[in-house]
This record gives sequence, structure tokens and C-alpha cells, in this order.
Amino acid sequence: MSASRVGIVGCGVIAKVYAEKLNALPFIDLVACADLERDRADALAQAHGIPKALSPDALLSRSDVDVVVNLTVPQAHIAVSRAAIDAGKSVFSEKPLALTVTEGRALVAAARAKGVRIGCAPDTFLGAGLQTCRKLIDEGAIGQPVAANGFMLSPGPEGWHPRPQIFYERGAGPMFDMGPYYFTALVMLLGPARRITSSARITHKERMIGSQPLKGQRIPVEVPTHVASVVDFASGPVATLVTSFDVQASRYRFLEIYGTEGTLAVPDPNTFGGPVQIKRGFRDEWKDVELTHGNAQQSRGLGLADMVRGIERKRPHRASGELALHVLDLMESSIRASTDGAHVLLGTTCDRPAPLPAGKPDDSLDD
Ligand SMILES: NC(=O)c1ccc[n+]([C@@H]2O[C@H](COP(=O)([O-])OP(=O)(O)OC[C@H]3O[C@@H](n4cnc5c(N)ncnc54)[C@H](O)[C@@H]3O)[C@@H](O)[C@H]2O)c1
Repeated sequence: MSASRVGIVGCGVIAKVYAEKLNALPFIDLVACADLERDRADALAQAHGIPKALSPDALLSRSDVDVVVNLTVPQAHIAVSRAAIDAGKSVFSEKPLALTVTEGRALVAAARAKGVRIGCAPDTFLGAGLQTCRKLIDEGAIGQPVAANGFMLSPGPEGWHPRPQIFYERGAGPMFDMGPYYFTALVMLLGPARRITSSARITHKERMIGSQPLKGQRIPVEVPTHVASVVDFASGPVATLVTSFDVQASRYRFLEIYGTEGTLAVPDPNTFGGPVQIKRGFRDEWKDVELTHGNAQQSRGLGLADMVRGIERKRPHRASGELALHVLDLMESSIRASTDGAHVLLGTTCDRPAPLPAGKPDDSLDD
């Protein structure tokens, strides 16, 4: 089978990580890249041997691009993904899928109507750490899941990202920027959610950039920067998730799943590796669990690779538009629940993505 021809739109910070991964996969041919800022496309092409650096419109109109990877800023995701679909191309987007559930739903419907695939980050749930957790839960290692706690507590990205403004605009904040990792992991482990409630606040109306080249500039804050949510999953477990850009230090990190027979400590869902730890019963000690799956290293692009494989083999892909839409629903509804002072019943659902087989080498997916 010939390689799928892929074009990247959006050549900023994360594009470099994708380009490296995609270039290493034999069934993907990275043929072009594009950005509104032409010099960024030129720089990415030069650094990673990508044959063509183009304008976004020129990339979307090429017949030798089968799949578009949308690595633009969140506010541009919907327009770029929609243009790719309208051009008859499958698209894999960075998170979030869209800024609103209404937009996301229309995007997923448009892909279906056009007969193309839509996939969305995060794909960290395909990594060794979270797949090992999935296997343990499915085997009953902690009994029946009862509850979960998740904490993404940070002081915000303005200390390191070169263009941190986007993190305080619509489509970001800790819930829309980091929530996808936590909610996607929870849905992959526990299945779809039923309802959510939250309390959210904006702690500072402005943030000060600490990174170069914009050090010292002030950023207006449009979105809540501390969000505490409670989620009921359709299968029964109750999860709490706190996402924050307002916390200077904490000892609470990542995710824990509590079962009737024990507790699973899940690794950082923004990474592909471990550690995974389990404690069975009250008197037992915490034990390190050996990872059972491949892809423990940085593998952003794996969800796209799985989508490309899915197209070739006519099977569903795991980091799907439906999963991302359900996660978007959780995020949008969490903010609405706080404003309305109520539980919000989710209007979307999705299948639990199929687990990857254990014991396979990196990048082999299920083949
Ligand atoms: N930076 C990270 O560590 C990281 C990690 C995981 C995911 N992400 C996600 O990746 C996406 C991009 O983040 P980033 O950090 O690379 O941002 P960035 O600002 O570094 O890069 C985004 C690029 O998109 C370009 N762009 C904006 N609108 C465009 C349009 N309409 N058409 C073409 N190009 C356009 C910008 O010019 C810029 O070069 C975001 O959705 C973010 O949530 C980032």
C-alpha cells in the first residue's frame, strides 16, 4: 500500500514535534506545510525536509495532499478543518476540535457527509501508560470503578510559550487547553459521561508574559483560569477534575481511579509513558506496574497514524471526531454549569475507543 500524503497547516511550536514523528513513519509521506506566516512554513520545511512550504489555501487545493493535520491556534481550528473537509480531505486536528459543541457537531457531520475522516488530539491515550491502565481496568485489577480524581494544577504557560496569549483566549484556559487530556483519558478508561457540574473563576484579569520575545507584555484574560468540575459517568463512576493556571505549587497531580478492590495511579495524561502504580486493598503496598504496551516515548502524531491505518484497513480510528466532540461537550458544559449554577446533562456520547493490543512494538498500532 502506498503512503498517505499528509500536509501540515499551522507551523508553530507543536508542528516541530509532529513533523519529527510523521517523518519517522513509513506509511506517511509528509509532502507539504503551510502557515499564515510564510516564514514559519519555510522554517519548518527546511528543518524537517518537507518538500513544499505553501500558503494555507495553496496546500488545501493540492491534489497530492490526502490528509490535513490542523496545528493552528484553537480559534482557527474550525475554519481550517472545515476548509480541508470541503476540499475532500481527511483532517486530524489539534485540540480542541472546535470552540463550541454546535460548531464541532457540524464539523463531524460535514466529514461524514463528505465521506472523509475527522480525528482530533489528544492521542496520548494511545501511549504505553494509559493503555496499560486500560488493560488493568478491563481485567478487573481494581474491581468495579467507583470514582476518579484528576488534578491539572499549574501557574500557566506564560513563563515558557513564545506566544502565550492564545492560552487566555476563548478556546483555551486550563479547561479547554488541558481538559482534553484528562477528559479523553477518563472517557477512554471509564466510557462516556452523563452529566457535569462545576465552579469556575477568573483569578487575574490580566497576566504578565515571562517568556521571550514578548516578556513584560500584559495579556487580557477572557476565560476562567480555575475550574473545579464533578462528572457522572454513564457506567456509574463519579469523577472530580480540577484544571487551573492559578496554582503555584501542589502535591496533587494527574489522575487516580478508585475501584471496589483497589486504586490505580494513572500517569500524566499529557504524556505517553508511565509510571503506572496500583494498590490493591487497604493493607497492600503501592506497586509499580510494568508497562504492557508500546509507545512510551513522545509520540504526538500517533492518533493521525491510527487514522491513516484505519482509512487503509477500513476500520474506525481511535482519536475520533465523536470522542473529541464528547470531550468538547464536557468542557463547554463545565463552564456553562458554573455560570448557570446547575448540573448540565450532556447532549453527546461516543464509543469507548478500542484498546490497542499489548506487547507490540512502537508504532505498530493493531497491525
Ligand atoms: N505548544 C504545545 O506544547 C502544544 C502541545 C499540545 C497541543 N498543542 C496545540 O497545538 C495547537 C497549536 O499550538 P502551538 O503551541 O503550536 O501554537 P503556535 O502559536 O506556536 O502555532 C500556531 C501556528 O498556527 C498559525 N496559524 C494561525 N491561524 C492560522 C490559519 N488560519 N491558517 C494557517 N496557519 C495559522 C500561526 O501563524 C502559528 O504559526 C493548539 O491547538 C494547541 O492547543 C500545543
